[in-house]
Amino acid sequence: MSLPDPIIFSKPLHVWLGILTLLLLIIQISLGIAMVKTARKNLYRIHTKVVWMVLIIVALIHAYYGFQIYFLK
Ligand code: HEM
Repeated sequence: MSLPDPIIFSKPLHVWLGILTLLLLIIQISLGIAMVKTARKNLYRIHTKVVWMVLIIVALIHAYYGFQIYFLK
């Protein structure tokens, strides 16, 4: 299966997905550190239920593009 890689704002989609992955990783790590420092319940929910799931899905899609470009082109 080959995914389409449209150009968005002059960069291919996989580049934007990579930037998004990096941002989500920084957010997730910062949330983890903030959780250890304070005991806010909503931070806990965002770190353990929302961001990591979105991060993994976006990272896997981004990695699939990388695999496709490196091995299948
Ligand atoms: C790539 C970075 C990270 C990912 C993907 C990640 C993912 C997760 C996930 C999935 C959970 C839920 C685990 C469970 O429900 O048992 C969790 C819990 C937690 N994370 Fe992270 N985490 C990351 C970084 C960090 C960092 C940098 C810190 C703190 C310095 C941190 C602190 C914690 C804490 C305190 C919990 C709660 C553990 C508990 O259930 O008591 N995380 N993390």
